[in-house]
Amino acid sequence: MTKLFLKRWALLVAVALFQTQLVFAQTLTVQVNNPGAPIPKTLFGLFFEDINFGADGGLYPERIKNRSFEFPNPMMGWKQLDRGDPKGQLYIFDQGSITDTPNSHYLRIKTPAGNKGFGIVNEGFRGIGVEKGAEYKFSVRARKVDGSPTAVRVEVEDGQKILDETEVSGFTNVWKTYTASLRANETTNKARLNVLLEGAGTVDIDLVSLYPKDTWQNRPNGLRTDLVKLLKEMKPGFLRFPGGCIVEGRTLDQRYQWKTTVGDLDERRLIINRWNTEFNWRLTPDYYQSFGLGYYEYFLLSEDIGAEPLPIMNCGMACQFNSSELAPLEDLDHYIQDAIDLIEFANAPVNTKWGRKRAEMGHPKPFNLKMIGVGNEQWGPQYVERYEVFARAIKQKYPNIALVSSAGPSPDGERFDFLWAKMRELNADLIDEHYYMAPKWFRDNASRYDNYPRTGPKVFAGEYAAQSVGIASPDNRNTWECAMSEAAFITGLERNSDVVRMSSYAPLFGHVDAWQWTPNMIWFDNLRSYGTPNYYVQKMFSVNRGTRRLPLLVDGSTKNGQQELYSSASLDEATGEIIVKVVNTSSATKDVRIALAGAKTAGGTGRAFVLRCEDMKAENSLDHPTKVSPLEQPLPVSTGEFSYKFLPHSFTVLRIPN
Ligand code: AHR
Repeated sequence: MTKLFLKRWALLVAVALFQTQLVFAQTLTVQVNNPGAPIPKTLFGLFFEDINFGADGGLYPERIKNRSFEFPNPMMGWKQLDRGDPKGQLYIFDQGSITDTPNSHYLRIKTPAGNKGFGIVNEGFRGIGVEKGAEYKFSVRARKVDGSPTAVRVEVEDGQKILDETEVSGFTNVWKTYTASLRANETTNKARLNVLLEGAGTVDIDLVSLYPKDTWQNRPNGLRTDLVKLLKEMKPGFLRFPGGCIVEGRTLDQRYQWKTTVGDLDERRLIINRWNTEFNWRLTPDYYQSFGLGYYEYFLLSEDIGAEPLPIMNCGMACQFNSSELAPLEDLDHYIQDAIDLIEFANAPVNTKWGRKRAEMGHPKPFNLKMIGVGNEQWGPQYVERYEVFARAIKQKYPNIALVSSAGPSPDGERFDFLWAKMRELNADLIDEHYYMAPKWFRDNASRYDNYPRTGPKVFAGEYAAQSVGIASPDNRNTWECAMSEAAFITGLERNSDVVRMSSYAPLFGHVDAWQWTPNMIWFDNLRSYGTPNYYVQKMFSVNRGTRRLPLLVDGSTKNGQQELYSSASLDEATGEIIVKVVNTSSATKDVRIALAGAKTAGGTGRAFVLRCEDMKAENSLDHPTKVSPLEQPLPVSTGEFSYKFLPHSFTVLRIPN
């Protein structure tokens, strides 16, 4: 070999190496031969709170607002029907002045002879949604007081057009429920319901309902199908309910109490929704909780969508952003008993008091509750004191129930550090961290859990969402930039799923005409709904979770997130597929070499799911619900080492046969 030849050869090698570095942004080595811990089924779940009309007016599809006249202003949502020459009177009665029944109010309608239809109108939840041809069940509880009232006529009206009408009749002086069916001849989400008394006489009415026949699992009092479908398609690992600050209430007497939300609809006691007047810029004075969607329905929903139920209990503390009211430490028994009884309601045999209640409601089989939250977003020594008393009592009776405790409202700072230290001392099970931060924070914190201690309490990333403008700003939007930044962050949750056992985006739902808080994962109006880019990020992670972590090396190092590339990997033991997730937050295509160390892969076609958008401000909407949504492509793989071009501003999931 001549000197010249050697020189040329060295030059060629140098150029080749240089080109390799130019071509491949990085090499990802997936250690298929060194699988890590199992990934918990609960890693990706759902946070439900009745905020933004999430329950009444949303998931709970009753069309009539204030159907039992129990709002503090009993005629809120109702008004007298204005049709020419109204003759008659309306009176509200309250039996509550003599008995402490939850549904004590009713309406008396009195009409004189010659009346041409006198009655009331319900405005629904920012209108009433009816689908052309679909069936709606009208029902009313009524009794005759005097005279000869002939019928109650019911009309679905849109503007001046009657879309369908029907009537119920045959009233006696005993309260009874009367039903009829309606089918609108047009689709609208802004209809109203007219209820008119015909004939001369007096009738009392209560519990006026217009309910779609089409509900999830066709259940009476069932949930809105399109919304449950969106949830189920995510394959969520758990469902946290009922919140959120709603657990706490602005004051203790407005806290969520599960026992007042179960049983017959008549047994459920309406209270104000704590988001009613929370934000001056988004007042919703007509926001109350009827509890048509109560604890039984939450458990059923969890079961329907295959999610572990996670109820959060008030621990004797009202919201610390509001009144900060405290139940005295020596008076916590009532609160603790509620938690103990809830576990009995969920899990105990039917011969126990609360197990029987569950069976009477239609579910003799236990719900198999495994965890419960003590307080929502509490902080300070007052929380620690209360948590300790709760934990002692619950663990004594139910040692296998895992407890979720709070880390306060922020992802760091004094309150956070204080609570973590205390909870560590108390050997807590799961600590609930919340982060409503800027998109950049999510990208910068993708390695947040890489160095968390591997022993002691585990993490529940219980509420998070990138805020495009600022926390709880009404100008926040569900942009692609927010969703993509969350995706970058979530790769870190997945890589650290031995520490982070659960996570959920928050809030879940927002009614486009009645929200208080934004951003939200799913938006809806009275008939339609759509998933945001954030929804698709959550869904892609959840349905491609994998069952076992696979360690990843980036150019030989465990450090992740360099060059704006964030990654994680897992194995799906059921199908044998290797799952690689990469988020490219940069504006350049990144060619990455993927080496599957120890894989059997001898060829085959995998699948790539790509979620991306050029426009970082892009959003989905009711009219363009899938503008930012994943596309599936075949992924031919011939060896255990291949390269893949990750597009700018993209989140990609590769499922590789093995
Ligand atoms: O998700 C909205 C609110 O944010 C929750 O109710 C509360 O826990 C947090 O402050």
